[in-house]
Amino acid sequence: NLIMKSARTIGVLVPDIANAFFSMFIKGIQDAAQKNKFVPIIFDANDTKQLQSYLEELIQRAADGLIIASATIDRNAVDTILKRNGIPYLLFDQNAVSEGDRVRIDDEAGGKMAANYLLEHNHERVTIVAPENPTENVSHRIGGFKQAFEKAGKPLSNEAFVYSEASKAGGYAAVSQVIAKRPSAVFTTSDEIAIGIYRGLQEQGYTIPEDISVIGYDDIDLATYITPKLTTVHQPAFEMGQAATELLINRLNNRQLPPQIRELPIRLVERESVRQLS
Ligand code: RIB
Repeated sequence: NLIMKSARTIGVLVPDIANAFFSMFIKGIQDAAQKNKFVPIIFDANDTKQLQSYLEELIQRAADGLIIASATIDRNAVDTILKRNGIPYLLFDQNAVSEGDRVRIDDEAGGKMAANYLLEHNHERVTIVAPENPTENVSHRIGGFKQAFEKAGKPLSNEAFVYSEASKAGGYAAVSQVIAKRPSAVFTTSDEIAIGIYRGLQEQGYTIPEDISVIGYDDIDLATYITPKLTTVHQPAFEMGQAATELLINRLNNRQLPPQIRELPIRLVERESVRQLS
């Protein structure tokens, strides 16, 4: 048969397959792909070299389209590899470089929600644990958090930051720096970081939330299996994966579509990790 048929595959790159946020995201991708008779090919790629080699691999294997959630993609890689090949793609977590289709989450509002919740509980001495070079969406998250404190007349300086990799190990490694800042509350830009912080604080004899409060971001399943249950900002990771896939498949079916934007809601989930200060 000389007729070339589409293999109906979607290449997916995520920065950390072990992070439960991305596991749910991938489940959502798989769900929407299956409904549309596509098959996802999934890679964990956390540095630019790995990312570029998987991208080239996927292009050679004639993936129909790509979902790239990998933090290390930069405009240069997008231009040189993707645009040249004319392959439809959707960038996730990188609003700055995504001129095309995108799944939008109001990260600024999410950061504000976390900050306002801490302010309502009278926390002023706050430490933010975040990656040093955050993806676009995470910088909006941090921006919203800072804005809310500013608006409350309690601006946060650079002293409020401790840098960490976006993982449990990163959070754990950041604990001594967090303790040195003597915060009443810690905001982490992902639940994975919060879980690492939990272990470190508890090992050092601190009780959450009596000694230090913690608020996370993502609402991964583990958030309700740690003690105390984590208060966090919920992101609909499964639906985000579904939406990304649907937008990409729409694009594959009609390349002429104007840019599609799908906005999904977030919400604060109050559990037990933030204490009310008087
Ligand atoms: O925990 C993973 C984080 O990376 C999520 O918050 C997601 O939005 C991505 O930026």
